[in-house]
Amino acid sequence: MRNHPAIIQGGMGIAVSSWQLAKNVSQAGELGVISGTAIDSVLARRLQDGDISGDTRRALSHFPNQDVAQEIIDRFYIEGGKSTDRPYLDTPKLILKPTAIALHLLIASTFVEVWLAKENHDGLVGMNILEKIQLAIPAQLYGAMLAGVDYILIGAGIPAQIPRILNALSLGDPVAMKIDVEDTNDKFQITFDPSCIKGVKYPLKRPDFLAIVSSHALVSYLNKDEETKPDGFVIEYHVAGGHNAPPRGKSSPNDNGEAIYTDLDAPNLEKVRSSGSPFWLAGGFGTPEKLLEAQALGANGVQVGSIFALCNESGFTQELRHEILKSLASGQAHVVTDASASPTGFPFKVIELDETLSTSQLFDKRTRKCDLGYLRTPFKRENGGIGYRCPGEPIDTFIFKKGSQAEAQASKCLCNALMADIGLGQIRPDGRTELPLITIGSDLEGPMKLLSQYPDGWSAQQGLNYLRMAQ
Ligand SMILES: Cc1cc2nc3c(=O)[nH]c(=O)nc-3n(C[C@H](O)[C@H](O)[C@H](O)COP(=O)(O)O)c2cc1C
Repeated sequence: MRNHPAIIQGGMGIAVSSWQLAKNVSQAGELGVISGTAIDSVLARRLQDGDISGDTRRALSHFPNQDVAQEIIDRFYIEGGKSTDRPYLDTPKLILKPTAIALHLLIASTFVEVWLAKENHDGLVGMNILEKIQLAIPAQLYGAMLAGVDYILIGAGIPAQIPRILNALSLGDPVAMKIDVEDTNDKFQITFDPSCIKGVKYPLKRPDFLAIVSSHALVSYLNKDEETKPDGFVIEYHVAGGHNAPPRGKSSPNDNGEAIYTDLDAPNLEKVRSSGSPFWLAGGFGTPEKLLEAQALGANGVQVGSIFALCNESGFTQELRHEILKSLASGQAHVVTDASASPTGFPFKVIELDETLSTSQLFDKRTRKCDLGYLRTPFKRENGGIGYRCPGEPIDTFIFKKGSQAEAQASKCLCNALMADIGLGQIRPDGRTELPLITIGSDLEGPMKLLSQYPDGWSAQQGLNYLRMAQ
């Protein structure tokens, strides 16, 4: 059995847990995790910005099939970078039967992010993706495995199919994955054949798989069958940054549109412990005392996000990180659990900041557009074909696709906003750049302690030193 690390630096999309952050955490002896979410668009935009550091092209030069690497460079790379007033090229949207270039881009971009995080050391690196973005999963798992990824971490859904898919991909076998399609009881699946990348030697290392869940019931459900059993669990509490599991109680959101959690939402850790699976606790566990507490409760350790989202190596732009730290220092920071901001339907933590979509006037002023499309859901059209819809798209279009107005009204385009968070926001024809929207945990004790010690910000290593203080 693997000797698991005590601290997992949580996967934070889109590219907030950048390869630089994951690499530094990994080199310090803990588990550094990159985010695979929308990483195909991230890679395409980095290339269009001229890949000034050369990192992306260096990683691509190690991709097992150089024709594929060249195809991507030819399509997206702009020497010196595109002019700042020109929009980025669109990348292919996820669909049930993707084109070859769409698959190649998903595989190669995931490879690049993991490869860079693993370059020149032998520490452990994981990849986080969302179960909800099903159409990307097999290709992304494969891309990460080509780069030797050590762990896969998946939440935001029930990742029951992942262990089987990882087993097959490590042998180079084709896989099929069941897909949720709305407005029908028909069954759908996607298929993925690793032979789309030539020149790969098998077997590939089979990474450990950690399922991110919020209830003990899911632990026993997934552990029931060898085919669905993960190698461990991250048990995430609802104060965690990012998406949260919906509350178990049936109460509606409060007057501020916030999801309301109760005792029903607390996982039964005794049951988790007695499952025998290794586990980590996440969500408000980013302090030295909480790490000790987690270990005393039988956990291997903790998964921590907010401390690392705010450290110097995170993917957030300097300006945004500075604004968040300023807000924390003022004592006025306000984090809400927005029940309707995310098109996924899951509650989503949002910190209220000027100049971001958390400001209702700015949200109302944005022209709705769905050009990245990661959170679209397939649905069956009346004519029998498959359509794709997202509550964040223009409301008329969503209603035309039989979506409901109520669902769409307050839904925010996380795809475009989260790309803006990392300085890769799209430029619109009227010259405006897409606005950011920042997620962070609602238990900020760890970041506040670090801020008092490092008022100008801290590094991942300093964050780790703090967490390990009581060990
Ligand atoms: C900025 C940010 C983005 C996040 N994005 C993701 C994500 O894409 N996928 C995921 O599984 N968890 C995501 N999380 C959750 C973290 O991986 C981690 O579990 C959580 O932050 C732990 O709680 P803490 O914030 O109290 O430390 C995100 C958290 C933050 C702060």
